[in-house]
Amino acid sequence: MKKKLFIKTYGCQMNVYDSDRMVDVLAPLGYEPTDRPDGADMVILNTCHIREKASEKVYSELGRIRLMQNDKAAEGGRMVVAVAGCVAQAEGAEIMMRAPHVDMVFGPQTYHQLPEMVVRAVRGAGGVVNTDFPVESKFDLLPEEGFRPQGPAAFLSVQEGCDKFCTFCVVPYTRGSEYSRAVSQVLAEARRLVGHGVREITLLGQNVNAFHGEGPDGKVWGLGRLIRALAEIDGLARIRYTTSHPRDMDDDLIDAHGTVPQLMPFLHLPVQSGSDRILAAMNRKHTGDDYRRLVDRLRQRQPDLALSSDFITGFPGETDQDFADTLRLITDVGFAQAYSFKYSARPGTPAASLEGRQVDEAVKDQRLQAVQQLLNAQQVAFNQTLVGRTLTVLFDRVGKHEGQLLGRSPFMQSVHADAPARLMGQIVEVAIDGAFANSLSGHVVTGETLTPAGRPVMEAHA
Ligand code: 5AD
Ligand code: SF4
Repeated sequence: MKKKLFIKTYGCQMNVYDSDRMVDVLAPLGYEPTDRPDGADMVILNTCHIREKASEKVYSELGRIRLMQNDKAAEGGRMVVAVAGCVAQAEGAEIMMRAPHVDMVFGPQTYHQLPEMVVRAVRGAGGVVNTDFPVESKFDLLPEEGFRPQGPAAFLSVQEGCDKFCTFCVVPYTRGSEYSRAVSQVLAEARRLVGHGVREITLLGQNVNAFHGEGPDGKVWGLGRLIRALAEIDGLARIRYTTSHPRDMDDDLIDAHGTVPQLMPFLHLPVQSGSDRILAAMNRKHTGDDYRRLVDRLRQRQPDLALSSDFITGFPGETDQDFADTLRLITDVGFAQAYSFKYSARPGTPAASLEGRQVDEAVKDQRLQAVQQLLNAQQVAFNQTLVGRTLTVLFDRVGKHEGQLLGRSPFMQSVHADAPARLMGQIVEVAIDGAFANSLSGHVVTGETLTPAGRPVMEAHA
């Protein structure tokens, strides 16, 4: 009989990718995904540690799961409970001490060892803790069978870990040092995805533009070269990548934005702050002007580029002047969308121990609101510039209203339009006629041209 597997995923897209791979790894053991934790045979919390209260959230979720585990036991069943991801990596055995009903704790680099861990957890007396950084790469050992993309837009993990050591960030500690997959492996996975109907691939990595995978020619390939090779795969219409560091935008990658039509004109390029003093304290290794110049170069190659970024307000020692520099940078660059966060001290990171320099919560709040106000205004203004344009949209979801489909524009906005269900998974031209804070609306202009008799004569095309 099939066993039910429930995975709850927190945090970034890398975790979404990892959770999908855990499903693949566990399939040969008879586990099938379910969307409810109660009654499941295995529950995995795939956790994120990047910002505040992550571990507290995990412990309270584990409390709820314990009740379901007890119910299952009362019916004579067994629910295996696991904590995976970055909180698992950071807290390790501590989790088992605080939540003894947990059977397995394993870090992001070990899930290819899940089958052995499950056997050990189910048969053995104690729980399994695995926070190793194994010598073998999980990517070499993941099964190819059972690999089923969820829709026409898929993630593909190409790089993991980070050597940048920004002073606020836990990633170099939880995900380890930088690692790039081999080009042949990435291309094979991309071809498999396209074979399953995928039209858009987002290349993932904590610092994806630092990609330096071994090419089939034995040389090291950068991300630009990898993107050019992916663009040769028939049927792959759209390529994106996230997340990038400004220091790793090399000439070849910048050039790809102007020369590879499949590379979508949207780039998430976190800058964090506009103050050179704060950028130095963050160990970002670039200034505000470096970022401005980089954006200029990108826009020279691709004038239509939509930019996204991450900002932190209230980094230790941030003054009103530093914050004003951030607002100025945002005004100078102009973002189509962005994320902003209040600084939160992450234990073990250098910035957390800058005693006496921590910024007041109220000031952090105020600055966050100011930054969000400016970014929201820019986002609305950007969306309005799209009204009247015809954009390609990859329909990947059904809309709220009957007869409506939802998809993404090249610039990442959700677009809804009335469209027949058979256009799902297709790339269709949509004339944009409405702009909202978080989405666009429009009507399909290709995909079907009606004959006088009302029958469609043309299918959607890229
Ligand atoms: N506090 C606030 N925001 C953080 N980020 C990473 N670490 C912290 C922290 N300690 C933000 C950064 C990063 C994004 C993924 O999360 O802006 O780019
Ligand atoms: Fe963290 Fe990104 Fe800095 Fe790496 S580059 S340390 S992942 S913020």
